[in-house]
Amino acid sequence: MLAAIVIGSFATSARTEDSGRGAIPKAELEAKLSYCKTCHGLSGQGFRGAFPMPRLAGQQPDYLINQLQAFIERRRTNPVMFNVAHVLSPGMEKALAERFQTLNPKPLGGGSKELAGEGQRIYEQGIPSAEVPPCASCHGADAKGAEAFPRLAGQLHDYIISKLTNWSKERGQDKAKPDNSDIMAPIAHNLTQAQIKAVAAYLSDLD
Ligand code: HEC
Ligand code: HEC
Repeated sequence: MLAAIVIGSFATSARTEDSGRGAIPKAELEAKLSYCKTCHGLSGQGFRGAFPMPRLAGQQPDYLINQLQAFIERRRTNPVMFNVAHVLSPGMEKALAERFQTLNPKPLGGGSKELAGEGQRIYEQGIPSAEVPPCASCHGADAKGAEAFPRLAGQLHDYIISKLTNWSKERGQDKAKPDNSDIMAPIAHNLTQAQIKAVAAYLSDLD
């Protein structure tokens, strides 16, 4: 409940700032999309390179735009995505986010099938002894997310593992500007590496 209220206020302020949006010429949007897809996969399904490029297909637009802003303001550290994001206009960010949401490729999968059952239990029930709430309570029963809560279904398992393992080294890096990453920080922190691998295996295979 608290999370929902906090999220609500962030989402509103993001929308009010986004006043300079104009129509993006189609050719410009298509060119930018092709550029994103060179790393994120032709259908936005993600790509396993030297480091995992996350799936963007089906992602919630509010979450996607929040992350672009976080890269630009260096609240979320990633040198590649800083360079990509800081040249995007608010209108372009919105147009890209809306387009990626419509894509629906099969998940790349690849996580261990043996771990998926344990992962599903963590996803649906949390880990009460470690004060980890059910992931489903925020990310949705089907893991498709909503508004500022990201979709996790079909996300690359090595990407999920890397994000949960490094959460406080990468996200929420501007203490003067707290953001939604604070909601996930204690959860990521309380998961063991084995639990992270299990939940990643479960999520990476979900449609
Ligand atoms: C040169 C490769 C490259 C290009 C081009 C690129 N990205 Fe990325 N992107 C990455 C990598 C790598 C990450 C993962 C960063 C991390 O691990 O935190 C990422 C992460 C993201 C994320 C965060 C996803 C999440 O689930 O939190 C978003 C959103 C994103 N990119 C959007 C875009 C958009 C929109 C474009 C095109 C304008 C684009 N990217 C182009 C490499 C790229
Ligand atoms: C109280 C609500 C809440 C719960 C419970 C929760 N999350 Fe999250 N999660 C969030 C929010 C909010 C974000 C987006 C943070 C941001 O915008 O920086 C997030 C982001 C994430 C991300 C990053 C996604 C990406 O594309 O980079 C992963 C992975 C994740 N959560 C996994 C989990 C798992 C696994 C669980 C259960 C063990 C869980 N979450 C439980 C609220 C929650």
